[in-house]
Amino acid sequence: MRTVVIGGTGHIGTYLVPHLVETGCEVINISRGQRQPYQPHSAWKHVQSIVIDREAADKAGTFGDQIRDLRPDVVIDNKCYTVDSARRLVEALRGQVQHLIVCGTLNLVISKLCRKINCLEIYAYLPENSHRQ
Ligand SMILES: NC(=O)c1ccc[n+]([C@@H]2O[C@H](COP(=O)([O-])OP(=O)(O)OC[C@H]3O[C@@H](n4cnc5c(N)ncnc54)[C@H](OP(=O)(O)O)[C@@H]3O)[C@@H](O)[C@H]2O)c1
Repeated sequence: MRTVVIGGTGHIGTYLVPHLVETGCEVINISRGQRQPYQPHSAWKHVQSIVIDREAADKAGTFGDQIRDLRPDVVIDNKCYTVDSARRLVEALRGQVQHLIVCGTLNLVISKLCRKINCLEIYAYLPENSHRQ
């Protein structure tokens, strides 16, 4: 699967991206190019990295289209902090990808985001249990 990971060099991406490569995904990382993963991994040789500043691209109204134009099957978003930003990405990707997965803290922002976008399900993975809203 062609998988775009937004913010793939952070805490989660350091482990997620090599795992995706090892399971056969073609991975594209989107970041500002300022951070390196916490630890090296040979899988990164197979990852295409594209420098985009999401905040700047969101302001310019281009971010969603830039991600869509990469023709991903799956988009994993580790860098979604506002409802507007989420909405723009959903609108650009609707009907174009198989999955849009947003990783974030399960709090009021995410809950509001899901209600406003009206297309997401929340899966909360907690140490002792997992549940779905
Ligand atoms: N880590 C945790 O323990 C934890 C716990 C609960 C929830 N979460 C949530 O999970 C999500 C991912 O967390 P994380 O810990 O992996 O995040 P993180 O370590 O802060 O990683 C941020 C990633 O986003 C990139 N980035 C930062 N600003 C950007 C921008 N303006 N445009 C494009 N890319 C940008 C960074 O690379 P560059 O700096 O090079 O751009 C990096 O790849 C977040 O929503 C976080 O709130 C994390």
